[in-house]
Amino acid sequence: MVQFFLVLFLLTTTTACHSTDNPRLISNFDDNWRFHLGDTAQAQAVDFNDHTWRKLDLPHDWSIEGAFDEKSPAGAGGGYLNGGLGWYRKTFTLDKKLEGKKVFIDFDGVYRNSSVWINNHFLGFRPNGYISFRYDLTPYLHWDKPNVIAVKVDNSKQPNSRWYSGSGIYRNVRLVFTNPDHFEQWGIFVTTPEVNDEKATLNIQFQTKVTTRNQPVRIESSLYDGNGKLVAKSTPINVNDTVSSTAMEVVGPHLWSTTDPYLYTLVSQLYVGNRLEDQLSTNVGIRYFNFDKDKGFSLNGKPMKILGVCDHHDLGCLGSIANKRAIERQLELLKGMGVNAIRTSHNPPAPELLDLADRMGFIIMDEAFDMWYIPKTKYDYSRYFAQWHRRDLSDQVRRDRNHPSVMIWSVGNEIPEQWAKTDTTPSGASVMNDLCGIVRSLDTTRPIVTANNDPDPKNPLISCGATDLIGINYHLDNLLSFPKVFPNDKLIVTESTSALETRGWYQMPSDSLIIAPKEWNIPYNTPTHFCSAYDNCATPWGSTHEEAWKVVKAHPYISGMFIWTGFDYIGEPTPYTWPSRSSYFGIIDLAGFPKDVYYMYQSEWTNKTVLHIFPHWNWKPGQLVDIWAYYNHADEVELFLNGKSLGKQHKVGDQLHVMWRVPFEPGTLRAVSYKNGKQVMVTEEKTAGPVARMVLTADRNKIKADNSDLSFVTINMVDKDGTLVPTASNLVNFSITGPGKIVGVDNGSEIDLNSFKANDRNAFFGKCLVVIQSTHKPGVIHLTASSNGLPNSNIEIVTK
Ligand code: GAL
Repeated sequence: MVQFFLVLFLLTTTTACHSTDNPRLISNFDDNWRFHLGDTAQAQAVDFNDHTWRKLDLPHDWSIEGAFDEKSPAGAGGGYLNGGLGWYRKTFTLDKKLEGKKVFIDFDGVYRNSSVWINNHFLGFRPNGYISFRYDLTPYLHWDKPNVIAVKVDNSKQPNSRWYSGSGIYRNVRLVFTNPDHFEQWGIFVTTPEVNDEKATLNIQFQTKVTTRNQPVRIESSLYDGNGKLVAKSTPINVNDTVSSTAMEVVGPHLWSTTDPYLYTLVSQLYVGNRLEDQLSTNVGIRYFNFDKDKGFSLNGKPMKILGVCDHHDLGCLGSIANKRAIERQLELLKGMGVNAIRTSHNPPAPELLDLADRMGFIIMDEAFDMWYIPKTKYDYSRYFAQWHRRDLSDQVRRDRNHPSVMIWSVGNEIPEQWAKTDTTPSGASVMNDLCGIVRSLDTTRPIVTANNDPDPKNPLISCGATDLIGINYHLDNLLSFPKVFPNDKLIVTESTSALETRGWYQMPSDSLIIAPKEWNIPYNTPTHFCSAYDNCATPWGSTHEEAWKVVKAHPYISGMFIWTGFDYIGEPTPYTWPSRSSYFGIIDLAGFPKDVYYMYQSEWTNKTVLHIFPHWNWKPGQLVDIWAYYNHADEVELFLNGKSLGKQHKVGDQLHVMWRVPFEPGTLRAVSYKNGKQVMVTEEKTAGPVARMVLTADRNKIKADNSDLSFVTINMVDKDGTLVPTASNLVNFSITGPGKIVGVDNGSEIDLNSFKANDRNAFFGKCLVVIQSTHKPGVIHLTASSNGLPNSNIEIVTK
């Protein structure tokens, strides 16, 4: 097994340097497309009349715009939102001044089965809905008249996913103009084979396309620190082949870590003779890490646990569109609870996620597939696996291998080949070897794993010995016996927990566990379609949050965990089906409102001082209510009801919360934490009266006028004293003036069947959300919230 004492370097996305003399030009290509839902003959033809088609800007997900449909072939897994087939067209003219350049179109991801034409010429078909791809437009372009690009997206065969995928060109699109001699796509690869406090060695490999033969070709590379100061330069290399490499030394490197995600910038220049032909700049993070079978994970020599979450790619009410600010908001919320790692379950992520992870300090487990040759749903990617897996996996590794955040490649989640073998499909072991071979041919600096739900050593994906780490999903008992069963192997918990919670809803007694469903194949139903937010409800294959964390925390050989999931996502509403249409697994709900267990992690995983008590304090007189407290930095917590002490409690052994059982009487619950007898923190829950008004809070009151930036506005329904009314479900209407638009509404409910694209939303346990997007115009956006019987509330957002 390869020793991952490694390596890494980093580079995030390779982007063009925007100096005016850079011969490379990258142009956003998201605006002004035409869209038609449904198939249409000859829509790729240049003279096809698309004037009646809808005008829109990318990224776009048409499924999120549709109605929830109990009969949807996408089923519960797909969140009851329909797929279908859609066409996109864009007519564009090129700047004559650029004639002579190579012109490429880069798609970050299209779900799924995309076919692309330029000026009637067929460029290609790509079945994988998550992979990034490029076409060379150059030979087919007109420089003196308009060009037409047409994209057919076929997501009509359903089901093809176990979660909500979205449909359409849901990630960004760019045009890239280069000179004929240029760096290839993903054509720079930086590694750091040697890193210590004194120095780091950077190895840099280049792939170039050079057709000029009569002049010397050379590459120069310079490394700049975070302040833009030149810190290292390679000696110029002469390029005689399509692949070349160089090295440089960085003295006293500033290392990248999750708490100090320091990035350098590598600027690489391609010269033919004395002419600068291409220039790329690449973010580089210098770091090394190691997985040890006894001591777990360390970064830059320091032991740490990987404290991760799994997440799907949808962004709640925005659907699956790759919006950078929406991803950043998710990462901010996760950072706030102490998460330091993300598993991109179960597919390559949007490139923006990796850029943000590099900048914000997250470790990424970059996952490729949810199935190989054997399907999980009828029309899934298994149909294309034989023909496409080599290309797709190679492209993923080449795209992502410069990101310092990426530290683990996962080549599969809960792959049926763990047990099954059909007459026509290869064995699990042979596919495993094939996939690991593909990854290692492109990157040997990161360990490879599969997320196994069969922890048996006879599982062929494990016994073939091809991976570097053993990944286990769930199976807490097997985590405990791991050192005995696998004495020579390194362990990562690729997936854990799968607890179920609805924000704001509590099922008592809180100390009895609800397993929902009883077994995975037994239907489950309750009248509310809610799951208890006490962390006392879990799937039979999973556990509560506390159970899983206690095991991971206690054992140094467990390098870390990826909790299922950070955020609720659309689809997979286990344990329910219709009308439930989104998941209950998140630590944070679909609208981005934390559930209570968020604060358990915050108390364990951050240095913030935490004292969180719940539930709310609006119950029936005399009702016995369990009050939990998550706390840290203190030895004990005292609870008071209307000024009267209900006693002190402290955590014993590995306990992660304390509890009081209290007969309800209206008033104020007050918790006080103490350390050595001195007060550390105070928190209160008050009985709320009827809703008197709405409080609007924007996560940001100033946003960029770039047609993509967002402001997330939370609406709290409060009583006359400003206390959140935890039972409020009032309908709130939104209206907007100024240069902004409402792009989504939500409240975190798993069963709300109203459209995410409407201009109104019911509060759910006291809260709802509206998301405002900027346009290209600067100005002031005015949002007004109105609700029957309440005064209107307003908020202003400035867009510049
Ligand atoms: C896992 C699976 C995830 C999700 C989860 C729900 O087994 O890998 O994709 O389905 O179960 O608990």
